Amino acid sequence: MPAELSPIDKAKFVAARRATAFVEDGMKLGLGTGSTAAWMVRCLAERVRDEGLRVVGVPTSSRTADLARQLGVPVASLDEVKWLDLTIDGADEFDRDLNLIKGGGAALLQEKIVATASDRMIVIADAAKEVTQLGAFPLPVEIIPFGWQTTKALVEETLVSLDVLNREVSLRMNGDRPLITDEANYIIDLHLKRIANPRQMALVLNQIPGVVENGLFIDICDIVVIGHGDGRVEVRDITTGEVAEDRVIFADTDNIFADLGD
Ligand code: 5RP
Repeated sequence: MPAELSPIDKAKFVAARRATAFVEDGMKLGLGTGSTAAWMVRCLAERVRDEGLRVVGVPTSSRTADLARQLGVPVASLDEVKWLDLTIDGADEFDRDLNLIKGGGAALLQEKIVATASDRMIVIADAAKEVTQLGAFPLPVEIIPFGWQTTKALVEETLVSLDVLNREVSLRMNGDRPLITDEANYIIDLHLKRIANPRQMALVLNQIPGVVENGLFIDICDIVVIGHGDGRVEVRDITTGEVAEDRVIFADTDNIFADLGD
């Protein structure tokens, strides 16, 4: 393992590593987006290479598709595969009911479609992503570019009637231009600090013309795998209520880190 890997990266890695143990031969998988999901793709590629695991992955972004192809994980589109056994993805925040904020990596639209088209969704995260109430992380909302300022104003107006601590909305930028998603849309970030009723928020936001999708994942995630920098992992299953603790050994991981360089 490269010596400079931070405790957070180690935590993300062990969560990803433990989650890939849920993958069985022949599965159709949703492949998430972000730095934690990238570890998962690396761990999956290792199993494909070393064990001859046969899987097909549906990536949730062009970035993940590129990484999967580069590492030899077979990929297909959702339309080719249609329904998935399992999606493994990261999150920006999760609460005790495994409701999530996602979209920090601007891929929430494909991520939500793919996770919803899966029998199960596993979230992989470092422990810092757990919150008692969602909303400290700005809530990403994907909107179409046409009339985006009007859509933003409508979102701001809608927030007035919702129980939040702050109501600032910003357009996500990429340098001096609006960030463009894989679906050629914009992202606005809702700086709410606290969302009292995430279910209501998710429903109301999606009623606004111009809003394509919001980053609240309600009742979609089944299992969270929480990683720690010392190798400990906790697996919580919201359906069964089971909580299990495990440990990932860092030894013999050189293959995984090979494509990172030192
Ligand atoms: C991308 C996402 C990511 O899963 C989320 O931002 C977490 O990213 P990371 O694993 O890099 O912390 O929702 O749209």
